[in-house]
Amino acid sequence: MPFSAGIIPFLASVSAGIPPFLAATLRRRTYAPGRRLRRVGALAAVAVAGLPLRIVGQTPAWDSPAVAQRVEALLAQMTLADKVGQLNQISLGDLTGPGAPLPAQGDLIARGGVGAIFNVTRAPSINAYQREAVVAAPRHIPLLFGQDVIHGFRTLFPIPLGLSATWDPTLVEATARFAAREAARRGIRWTFSPMVDIARDPRWGRMAEGAGEDPYLGSMLARAYVRGYQGSDLADSTSVLACAKHFVGYGAAEGGREYNTTEISERTLREVYLAPFQAAVEAGAGTIMSAFNALDGVPASANRFTLTTVLRDEWGFRGLVDSDWTSVRELMLHGIADDEATAARKAFLAGVDVDMQSGLYAAHLADLVRSGDVPVARLDEAVRRVLRLKFALGLFEHPYVDEAAAAAATVNADGIALARRAAEASCVLLENRPTRASVPASLLPLADHAVRRIALIGPLADSAEDMLGSWPGLADAVDVVTLRQALADRAAHTGFRLDYTQGTGVAGTSEAGFAAAIAAARAADVVVLALGETGRSSGEAASRAHLDLPGNQEALLEAVVAAGRPVVLIVFSGRPLALNWASAHVQALVFAWFPGLQAGPALTRLLFGDAAPSGRLTVTVPRSVGQIPLYYNALNTGRPRQDPIGFGRRAPDAYYVTGYIDEPVTPLYPFGAGLTYTSFRYGAVSVQPAQLSAAAIQAGQAHFTVAAEVRNTGARPGVETVQLYLRWRGTSVARPVHELKGWRKVALAPGEGRRVEFTLGRDELAFWNLAMRHAVEPGSLSFWIAPDSASGQPGAAAVTP
Ligand code: NOJ
Repeated sequence: MPFSAGIIPFLASVSAGIPPFLAATLRRRTYAPGRRLRRVGALAAVAVAGLPLRIVGQTPAWDSPAVAQRVEALLAQMTLADKVGQLNQISLGDLTGPGAPLPAQGDLIARGGVGAIFNVTRAPSINAYQREAVVAAPRHIPLLFGQDVIHGFRTLFPIPLGLSATWDPTLVEATARFAAREAARRGIRWTFSPMVDIARDPRWGRMAEGAGEDPYLGSMLARAYVRGYQGSDLADSTSVLACAKHFVGYGAAEGGREYNTTEISERTLREVYLAPFQAAVEAGAGTIMSAFNALDGVPASANRFTLTTVLRDEWGFRGLVDSDWTSVRELMLHGIADDEATAARKAFLAGVDVDMQSGLYAAHLADLVRSGDVPVARLDEAVRRVLRLKFALGLFEHPYVDEAAAAAATVNADGIALARRAAEASCVLLENRPTRASVPASLLPLADHAVRRIALIGPLADSAEDMLGSWPGLADAVDVVTLRQALADRAAHTGFRLDYTQGTGVAGTSEAGFAAAIAAARAADVVVLALGETGRSSGEAASRAHLDLPGNQEALLEAVVAAGRPVVLIVFSGRPLALNWASAHVQALVFAWFPGLQAGPALTRLLFGDAAPSGRLTVTVPRSVGQIPLYYNALNTGRPRQDPIGFGRRAPDAYYVTGYIDEPVTPLYPFGAGLTYTSFRYGAVSVQPAQLSAAAIQAGQAHFTVAAEVRNTGARPGVETVQLYLRWRGTSVARPVHELKGWRKVALAPGEGRRVEFTLGRDELAFWNLAMRHAVEPGSLSFWIAPDSASGQPGAAAVTP
């Protein structure tokens, strides 16, 4: 059943009550998933069901006429077997040493049967495989080497969820650029990153790999990653191809259970899940990875609507689509193919160009072409996509990597500085209370207090391995500076005493270490508790049904707090944890995610106030698993708990409003939240003009200017992440209670105030309306300029037809 098929006739019948512009739209539109839309040239101008054309992207630099000529010349020489070989991607390990024999697949490479390889990370191995393709294979087409370079390669930065908490696209781009250089130096020219899946469910372990729950922030960061990886020119030897993944809806796995089925309405799909992919495509991403999940019953790796209608026809994407690991073969397990050939045919015809690891294209595609089940023109198009990128990367000119340079590369001072800066910026301070009622100063920064003795307690205080998170890349745990090491170093230089005791293991059940921990806490001026998950408790195949501290860490926490000393709790995790008790009982609470190589120095600088926290949540922190999915940009419902009831009606009995009888509806911490070491006051929001026409906004001729003064009211300089949210009312579909549409990071000296201004036009105001058209509608608007998604007083404006 089409997503909205049922509602269209219904609306047509009541269209008398619908605004004229919308009624006309509804009459014109008939929607059916999978239907081909008209493709207009490389600029991706598209007609959506007869509606006006929309330019959604520019031709990326890698898609040049010069490259096209070379592609055509090579394609003309290729046999069917050569072509199929280019669409076959396999995972191979490094060779055991110089001159070591190639594995059995070496032969396949020499016959031109492989186009891309991944999981080979040493330059000599890469060159050895490459020689088979370039020297021995009939067409001498270089291999493309890929790798999961997710948040750094050798120099490891915070996990992507942590990087997103910086709300700093420039910094994120810098980390991606750095990772690209390190990977490319080894001969890896393709990273399976960024993961741009929106995640509204912290049970889903892969939330750690993305930018959180918001499509606007996610889109900005998707662009940043693509720019960072691909640089300004793919041919630059320091650039690597980006791969936006997992297309699409993977983050909506039911129950947060990894690889599970997804059910997403078309509007939510477009507005929430597709948006960051579109941003990545617009930024020029060369590749997209198709996902594991079934979406509305159609596995994402055989989903013609998403892979072809949206990606190719609407967005004009000219890069290649790679499957995820064996996701072509998995079509049989999903139940839409009874045999391998059918799985290969369905994936290929839906729009998956390259088969990662299934081997089904290698085994069946040639026969499918010979039998006419797969048109040769479709095969050629997929091969063009591969060759285009290989030419653009300069692989034909420079297929080999400099082994000496690769061997000489180590973690360097620039990388360490960037890793520390990123780690500092990713930590989110959520509580900072005075040490006791009689002392006004908040616990942090510790430099404000006479601290002579610190007790450092917890299983993550000195665990280098865990600081790397779930995608450690080629990072070496010996390069990690743990919190214990960094605090010990500081203690040695500044003369406070540090007592370290582990207390328990991450998943510990024994309380044998509690007594020592309690004794250390009692003897200290301040306790720093380092608790959380292991680095591998999030990421792929690491869904959790609980969001509390694993093992007996909660018991350790409560025992240590009972010792009566001020406690800073630092939480290391790949997802928000529902730490209700802790949030009410510790003096300071920091979500540090997994910060990477510079975990310790970054946290130590933040604790003492050499640097101030500036991270903000990019995910809502729930109070309990039962509240999930809980995200800030939700719909209001007809029975909201907090909104005043308008329309002259009496507020309903408080019992008959949305919520739970045993848990608040509000989160523990809202999206956007985060403190620093000063305070800010927000002035009233002004909106200019008070009214605009939808037509003028839609035509790009009019915009609102929304502004407020933000003042640093504290005694320290600080950086505030000033956030702009809006809400629509009176529109054809219900809109979220808050939608992020902009933010600015503003550095203010004590007492300094600044007018912070946002411009909102078509890009910010259009949404997918009832006719499934991305358009600006008449309605009324509220705008907030606020420190998070749950505070502030709005300014208002109207949009007329
Ligand atoms: C499976 C994961 O889903 C994907 O993100 C990753 O890139 C591939 N494996 C390759 O390692």
